[in-house]
Amino acid sequence: MPAPHVTVTRRLLFNAGHRVHNPALSDEENVRLFGKCNNPNGHGHNYTLDVSVRGAIDDRTGYVHDLGALKQLVEEVAVSKMDHRNLNLDVAFMHGIIPTSENIIVAIWGLLAPAIHPAALVRLVLWETSNNYVEYTGD
Ligand code: NI
Repeated sequence: MPAPHVTVTRRLLFNAGHRVHNPALSDEENVRLFGKCNNPNGHGHNYTLDVSVRGAIDDRTGYVHDLGALKQLVEEVAVSKMDHRNLNLDVAFMHGIIPTSENIIVAIWGLLAPAIHPAALVRLVLWETSNNYVEYTGD
């Protein structure tokens, strides 16, 4: 019988600032679309990122993926580049991209998906506040 496949999730926290602004639009249109999130000097969030990977349970360890090792990988590849930074100005992989949660989560996927194996990245959830989150499964 093939090994069962299980999805495991690690949660990471980081803080970052951003300004939601589309430079292609007028200042008035930006304010109309983004309201407080368009504040000229930005604002901060305490982000929560849930990283889910799926794979076969390893016979030797009983794990799909060591979650401590997964945490280290996610920190190194993605979180350390955003934590305590301004997403508009300091984060190379967000340059030229409006830093909404939707765009952030897609960018994180692009960094993480190639780095995780033999388990596969299957789901990211990014909480911007305790009320708002986005979810991405790579499509
Ligand atoms: Ni915001």
